[in-house]
Amino acid sequence: MVCYQIRRYQDEDYEVVREVYATGFVEHLDAVCYQALRQTWIQLLLLSLLCSVQALSGSLTAMLAAAVMALLAGREVVRYLLSQGIQLGLHEDLLDINTSYMREGQVSCFWVAESQGHVVGTVAILPAASHPGIWELKRISVRKEFRGHGIAKALCQTALEFVGSRGVVDIVLFTSMLQTDAHKLYHSIGFRKVEEFVWPSLPAKMIGFMVFRYVYRVPQRQPVEPDTNTSLE
Ligand SMILES: CC(C)(COP(=O)(O)OP(=O)(O)OC[C@H]1O[C@@H](n2cnc3c(N)ncnc32)[C@H](O)[C@@H]1OP(=O)(O)O)[C@@H](O)C(=O)NCCC(=O)NCCS
Repeated sequence: MVCYQIRRYQDEDYEVVREVYATGFVEHLDAVCYQALRQTWIQLLLLSLLCSVQALSGSLTAMLAAAVMALLAGREVVRYLLSQGIQLGLHEDLLDINTSYMREGQVSCFWVAESQGHVVGTVAILPAASHPGIWELKRISVRKEFRGHGIAKALCQTALEFVGSRGVVDIVLFTSMLQTDAHKLYHSIGFRKVEEFVWPSLPAKMIGFMVFRYVYRVPQRQPVEPDTNTSLE
């Protein structure tokens, strides 16, 4: 059993919040590499490279060395692309978390989960730039050692209750095809997947990297019906 509390973001959380985000992102490196290796054009490229090395050197060892080097080089390319993605997030809302989420009068907020004085998880919500009138759930991440204890679910529910109590009805979030743990989390909360699309960048198109859009409708409180059985007379 892990003891944790959820609280609003404070200035001193800045570095650790950015680090939790970056760590949660980079852990998908192997999954992205695997997705790349599933592409026929990459398999053919690898095969032709190996055949060329074999034909030129006549050596099985050289062919195996070329295979290992090609895989390692490919992994470094993927690592570089992921680091570009991380930088994007770090230079968007996470560059100035106070301005992005904590401004007075704005229906948005950033929370952290804290266990024994350490930040172990994050979540944020703000009006979606791409969908007017809809709020976007973002930056959901929990440190590996603290997973499976309901922390992400509690963080998300905190954010949903916060906007729900301020009249927000529709929530959206985006996740990738590779974040399978996150899909389970979103389904368990009540989100529905409504769209799948290839991320609009050249590297993403080359490996068929899909992004999923999930939506959630905040349950509206029913107005209390007058008791028809009660007679006023
Ligand atoms: C996705 C993530 C935030 C889940 O965090 P977590 O604290 O372990 O999740 P919870 O313990 O709150 O689990 C919530 C629900 O998801 C399910 N779930 C989460 N991870 C799961 C896993 N690996 N296998 C099976 N179910 C899982 C839980 O069973 C639970 O469902 P339940 O309430 O019906 O039992 C965490 O894995 C993570 O930080 N991943 C890396 C960053 C990331 O991908 N973020 C998503 C960005 S879109």
